[in-house]
Amino acid sequence: MELMKAIAMRKSTRSYKSEQISDESLNTIINAGCAAPVGMGAYNSVHLTVIQNSDLLDKITAVTAKVFGNPNMKPFYGAPTLVIVSGKPNEKAPAIEVANAACIVENMSLAATDLGIGSVYLLGFLFALSSDNDLLKELSLPEGFVPAAALALGYPTEPLTKEKDLKQTIQINTIK
Ligand SMILES: Cc1cc2nc3c(=O)[nH]c(=O)nc-3n(C[C@H](O)[C@H](O)[C@H](O)COP(=O)(O)O)c2cc1C
Repeated sequence: MELMKAIAMRKSTRSYKSEQISDESLNTIINAGCAAPVGMGAYNSVHLTVIQNSDLLDKITAVTAKVFGNPNMKPFYGAPTLVIVSGKPNEKAPAIEVANAACIVENMSLAATDLGIGSVYLLGFLFALSSDNDLLKELSLPEGFVPAAALALGYPTEPLTKEKDLKQTIQINTIK
């Protein structure tokens, strides 16, 4: 798919089929994430955790529902794959782990769109996950790494077909 078409077709998918994506598609998406720019080229300061274990996804869902006081909350919208992007905070570059994670997530999301796979950038549930040390340990993150962003992946219940108009939706001032 042409890049501008993938950009126009990408959207947040919030309803998924239970069918798992193939390992081949997952690898393509992960490789797109790994090609993203990372501050100072420090690829060893970022880490990806792929979760396809429904028990762990259910545990994270339960903790999130509890923290947000909404028993019906489905933070992953039924997506069968979750990729958590973690990073190592650097006091000399505040929030760099979040900035790195955003680049990685967007690359993965565009690659998923190219494959007809739905995705949604997720931040909300990380607040709940990060407040539960036992659950956090289940991610087996390297020492000093914290979750910074996540992407849910799966086949959308409604196929991605609509291309949005590419127009200036963000306020701009131009200085010439
Ligand atoms: C930093 C960031 C955090 C987000 N967190 C969530 C989230 O926790 N849950 C969710 O459903 N969508 C989340 N989104 C998706 C946005 O709501 C969505 O991208 C935006 O409304 C535009 O819609 P679109 O992605 O369909 O173009 C997040 C997006 C970004 C960039």
